[in-house]
Amino acid sequence: MSLFANSNNAPGLFITFEGIDGAGKSTHIQAFADALGKKYPQHEIVLTREPGGTALGEQLREILLHHSMHLETEALLMFAARREHLATVIEPALAAGKIVISDRFTDASFAYQGGGRGLDLGKLYELEVWVQMRLPDARAGEGGQKRVLLQPDLTLLFDLPSEIAEARRSAARDPDKFEQLNASFFEQVRQEYLRRAKDDPVRFEIIDANQSKDHIWNLLQNIIIKI
Ligand code: TYD
Repeated sequence: MSLFANSNNAPGLFITFEGIDGAGKSTHIQAFADALGKKYPQHEIVLTREPGGTALGEQLREILLHHSMHLETEALLMFAARREHLATVIEPALAAGKIVISDRFTDASFAYQGGGRGLDLGKLYELEVWVQMRLPDARAGEGGQKRVLLQPDLTLLFDLPSEIAEARRSAARDPDKFEQLNASFFEQVRQEYLRRAKDDPVRFEIIDANQSKDHIWNLLQNIIIKI
């Protein structure tokens, strides 16, 4: 069954990559995009990322990844960048039938600001609804349509024990603010990702990232067959 028959009432497809730092999602995202582009040459691929994906979002990314701030400020800025990203990149692309692949989205806010840093999940649910709920536009005569909470059609969660991810990260030369945090922080991030996945098993594909690159690439190719 094609994922194009999705729940977002849009002809495009929205795919996200998630996982703790060091899980290896960035290693595969470009090749995944290329392979999907070959399978669906009629659908343009938009490869993007969060925080970021817009000029304003990239400025916010710079601030978020390199400055310390109150936890709620951090969450609000993540969702502010996300609102801009949705409004100017993701939603228009989905409406035009494009395939949007984003390196992180809202699950990362639940995992990092919620699981890792301990922000009340209730506040994150409120922000998720605030930013992702599309209301029918009464002025355009859409009063009868249902509200839609825009979510990815598919989320690939690269799952890896936090100690193994830490060992991989220690090889990285220039860690950002989040990458400097310790294994217990990342274990909490991981557990929140897994909780989100359990809550929405249809949307999530969990990839065991504790395997060779070739093996993971095979898993990804099998997922592409199903899209
Ligand atoms: P990441 O996506 O890992 O980029 P790179 O591979 O270039 O390091 O970095 C983004 C960081 O931002 C990552 O540590 C997770 C964090 N983040 C949040 O804390 N909350 C969010 O909502 C998002 C999207 C990212």
